[in-house]
Amino acid sequence: MLPRKEEVIEGYSLYISRASHVTYAPIVPYKARNALVWDVEGREYIDFLSDAAVQNVGHNNPRVVEAVKGTAERLLHFTFIYGFPVEPYLLAKKLAEIAPIESSKVAFGLSGSDANDGAIKFARAYTGRRAVIGYLRSYYGSTYGAMSVTGLDFEVRSKVGQLSDVHFIPYPNCYRCPFGKEPGKCRMECLEYLKEKFEGEVHAEGVALLLAEPIQGDAGMVVPPEGYFRRLKKILDEHGILLAVDEVQSGLGRTGKWFAIEHFGVEPDIITLAKPLGGGLPISAVVGRGEIMDSLPPLGHAFTLSGNPVASAAALAVIEEIEERNLLERAERLGKKAKGRLEKMKKRHELIGDVRGLGLMLGVELVKDRETKERAYDEAKKVVWRAYELGLIVAFLQGNVLRIQPPLTIEEELLEEGLDRLEEAIEDVEEGKVPDSVLEKVQGW
Ligand SMILES: Cc1ncc(COP(=O)(O)O)c(C=O)c1O
Repeated sequence: MLPRKEEVIEGYSLYISRASHVTYAPIVPYKARNALVWDVEGREYIDFLSDAAVQNVGHNNPRVVEAVKGTAERLLHFTFIYGFPVEPYLLAKKLAEIAPIESSKVAFGLSGSDANDGAIKFARAYTGRRAVIGYLRSYYGSTYGAMSVTGLDFEVRSKVGQLSDVHFIPYPNCYRCPFGKEPGKCRMECLEYLKEKFEGEVHAEGVALLLAEPIQGDAGMVVPPEGYFRRLKKILDEHGILLAVDEVQSGLGRTGKWFAIEHFGVEPDIITLAKPLGGGLPISAVVGRGEIMDSLPPLGHAFTLSGNPVASAAALAVIEEIEERNLLERAERLGKKAKGRLEKMKKRHELIGDVRGLGLMLGVELVKDRETKERAYDEAKKVVWRAYELGLIVAFLQGNVLRIQPPLTIEEELLEEGLDRLEEAIEDVEEGKVPDSVLEKVQGW
């Protein structure tokens, strides 16, 4: 017998560290299938969050479940650190085939955070340089390395310290340009700033890598302008700096391409992957040019449980599912449809300041005033709560950007139904139908 919903929720505050949990809505999941989730009381929800961008091929995808069952019955684990299990080899070969990097090799881990640590380690070892450049408002993860480069983790860093030689630059956010410029009417001051940094603060020839999210996810689905990455890569190449792209959230079809960086016409040196890779099982990968990936000595980036055969088989099934069901094309098509509807909502609802994103990686920024762009924090909490009451799972980022990332496999009718529920939630908030008392129930970050 499962414990009651209230007991579980209370149990979280009693037994689980607040450092590893944040509440948007009190959902205690019992089972899930594709874009639907049922809680322990049998209530049904449409999951517009894909379980934090994990379920690209849908919850409990039958192909993934079969791969997991079949492999688990035969071989739960045999460490690939010492032995030669087949599944991680097949997965590495497949990742090398789909990644937009010539002659790549792979190192496995367990989370996006450790993959980003790996990117830093490989880049430092390969270049023999120390400095790392990350972005303000970025999120790369929670291990020491990833946290050290993460723009959003500055409060944690202030408590626990960080890696040395890390520098931050602003992301090209054209809706909230840090330089006060208008889209299309700028000199890409964000890149000029990097050049300035190289002239006045950081010795460019001492920089190992720049770690970038091709679309900044937790910053609120920020899409860089056309040409940004090409110009950035040119600057990096001039100084021998590696470009590592964090595709933990944007990778594996989410934006309509295998990797979001493919939208921007540059070849990165390193790619990091996790979240959707295992279809719900923990597995991450660093994919990079062979010579970079061989720059650390044996066991320089190794974890006993990484390359686990069951998680690797699940990942192979995820990739097969994307290929065979043509999910890249589907993500692009459904993404256009969803974005079109969100843009129509923007015309009807003053609360929406901006709609952005690629494929099914979409953000809806809520503002109190379209002129001042004051962030609508309370309203975002209320929309998320009202959506929960209406049976829709959605979250916000940066306190005011709704995160719309349904599975790439979501049925079209469910996508429409979810968007209807979202619009109803927005309308109810605008009409003052959602009380202030819900504000303390939604924590978010
Ligand atoms: C872009 C990005 N990188 C890295 C991470 C960290 O991944 P994980 O939580 O699997 O360690 C996340 C998680 O939200 C992410 O969104």
